[in-house]
Amino acid sequence: MRLNSPQINLITRACMKASRSLIRDFGEIENLQVSAKGPGDFVTSADKRTEKILIEELQKAHPEYGIITEEAGVINKSNTKNRWIIDPIDGTMNFLNGIPQFAISIGYEEDKEIKCGVIFNPITNEMFCAEKGNGAYLNNARIRVSNKKEIKDALLVTGGPKRASKIKDKIFSEYVNVSNNVANVRKFGSAALDIAYVACGRFDGYWQRELNYWDIAAGIVILKEAGGFVDFFEEDTNLPLKKNILATNSNIHEELRELINKKDIE
Ligand code: IPD
Ligand code: CA
Ligand code: CA
Repeated sequence: MRLNSPQINLITRACMKASRSLIRDFGEIENLQVSAKGPGDFVTSADKRTEKILIEELQKAHPEYGIITEEAGVINKSNTKNRWIIDPIDGTMNFLNGIPQFAISIGYEEDKEIKCGVIFNPITNEMFCAEKGNGAYLNNARIRVSNKKEIKDALLVTGGPKRASKIKDKIFSEYVNVSNNVANVRKFGSAALDIAYVACGRFDGYWQRELNYWDIAAGIVILKEAGGFVDFFEEDTNLPLKKNILATNSNIHEELRELINKKDIE
């Protein structure tokens, strides 16, 4: 891999360290203590342990950096110039059910732009990473988005809605519009891996409403460096960490946007 900024080295080291206990926890899934965090959403002791290790490792090098992380919230709030954006386990539901489709996701943001990021699935041992200007990689191999040109041939991925969603009808009607016009749609349960899979050409595009910034922060730079296109729609300036994402191989981007905006179900 030809990425070697201090930040990417730090992130990969932190991921490798945290993944050791995560792999152990995954192996003992039945003994995990599960507590209800809210409807349709669980937090495990593994989540918290992983997050603690990641924060400790990253803070060793830069105690002054800001951190936005799913479980602990915001650390060093006043530092908005340099921030780590962390999801210790993205795909918790999969993790809890013994499905090896989850990942640690860490993005490094400088002046509000994600400069590098890592998405690591410790079970399949796939590490997606990228640095702005230096390309995107899956383990040691350079990755690129698919070359598919026509949306009718595209394999897409999406996620949600959560049980508590207030816009289920809208989300389902968008799903119907899209699925009537593409080859097929998958739902894999990890937003971070969903984007990473677009970056390496497994999927041609991904869209989803009601995400959080930490779900997809690392994925933004990975997808862009792999030649993809990502943008956000219907942003609410009062809720900057809430995201509705559209992420594609770039060829099918506008067509997918039109399908999502379409009001009438075909
Ligand atoms: C979730 C996953 C899932 C997405 C949810 C996220 P979590 O993150 O990314 O794919 O549909 O919206 O909250 O809770 O597993 O970290
Ligand atoms: Ca997540
Ligand atoms: Ca999570």
